[in-house]
Amino acid sequence: MKILVTGGAGFIGSHTVVELDKAGFEPVIVDNLYNSNLDVLEGIKEITGKDFPFYQIDCNNAEQIRALFAKEKFDGVIHFAAYKAVGESVEKPLNYYENNLISLLVLLRAMKEFNVDKFVFSSSCTVYGQPTELPVTENTPRLPANSPYGNTKAIAEDIIRDHVHSAPGIKAICLRYFNPIGAHETSLIGELPNGVPSNLVPFITQTAAGLRKSLTVFGSDYDTPDGTCIRDFIHVVDLAKAHVKALGLLDEQTDADYYDVFNVGTGEGYTVLELIKTFEEVNGVKLNYTIGPRRAGDVEKIYAQSDKVNNVMKWHAEKSMADALRDAWNWQLKITPEK
Ligand code: NAD
Ligand code: WQD
Repeated sequence: MKILVTGGAGFIGSHTVVELDKAGFEPVIVDNLYNSNLDVLEGIKEITGKDFPFYQIDCNNAEQIRALFAKEKFDGVIHFAAYKAVGESVEKPLNYYENNLISLLVLLRAMKEFNVDKFVFSSSCTVYGQPTELPVTENTPRLPANSPYGNTKAIAEDIIRDHVHSAPGIKAICLRYFNPIGAHETSLIGELPNGVPSNLVPFITQTAAGLRKSLTVFGSDYDTPDGTCIRDFIHVVDLAKAHVKALGLLDEQTDADYYDVFNVGTGEGYTVLELIKTFEEVNGVKLNYTIGPRRAGDVEKIYAQSDKVNNVMKWHAEKSMADALRDAWNWQLKITPEK
């Protein structure tokens, strides 16, 4: 099966390209390199020994996307391409609605026109807001989004569901990722945040590498065992494998209007301080950090109930948080310029 991977040069997309290849799929990468670069493609090539087709195209460009569909004859699409910075989305909401939603419409229209029937979409646990019950299942109600970014994911899910139910001959799965961390075990691909990272693990690795002075832990007065927030941290390679499973599940479906959502998390929550301690232990490094005030908009605790993805997709997280933190650190060492 030939699979279009939009955003395939990005963090999760690049790891998914590698897993697609391992599973016998033929990935074709589209990325406008807004948040990635050509070195990622070299990393993929080194890991797989293959040079997959790459198109530097903006997914909002309907004409270029149509021309690509006409040329490549895809069997399915995994749509990663999006802007993802929560804080920036508050400053520039129109950029986020435009990039994250127009690209989706362009792709769904192209799929319909060219009879491509399998669609996997990158959604997020952000659609749950601060849930009242934990762990969250797929039936836990979605709450109003905390940011325009989060809202693009909720709206995108609704667009996909409505489109599938209008019977265009497209089957779709939305994967609600929890907190992806880590890097490929070869250290040939990983996370490349632009500027000052807002996510926890890149900030930790950059601090440990001496690129930042100190990490601020945002809040220690939450209602959790040590007062810091709880998240479900999932290794990016495990997450990548879930996309392969999702394509397999879509292929098995006989209902033309199949649509479903799946949590993709480990099912276990860890506090920020537990993660820091694990990082220090597995890597033998001491992290400089201080406790600071809460960050606006943070949810106190969230972790997945992963029964559905375990049972229906036969997907299980195989790697631990410690594995992910070791891989993230090795990746950081690889990309940090020598001092
Ligand atoms: P990323 O920024 O590393 O990858 C996204 C890629 O898409 C980048 O390479 C970027 O250049 C490209 N891109 C963006 N807009 C594009 C456009 N219009 N046309 C073509 N390419 C475009 O992000 P990621 O962490 O790999 O996230 C992938 C997807 O998963 C996103 O949809 C994101 O919202 C979602 N997601 C990410 C997380 C996370 O914590 N990383 C959590 C939940 C959901
Ligand atoms: C994790 C924990 C912070 C940085 C975000 C998006 C979410 C999803 C994943 C895309 C929190 C704490 C962080 C720091 C800290 N992305 N922290 N000091 O906020 O759970 O989720 O990325 O869909 O939508 O909102 O991830 O890595 O930013 O934070 O103490 O310097 O680490 O307060 O408790 P978050 P994160």
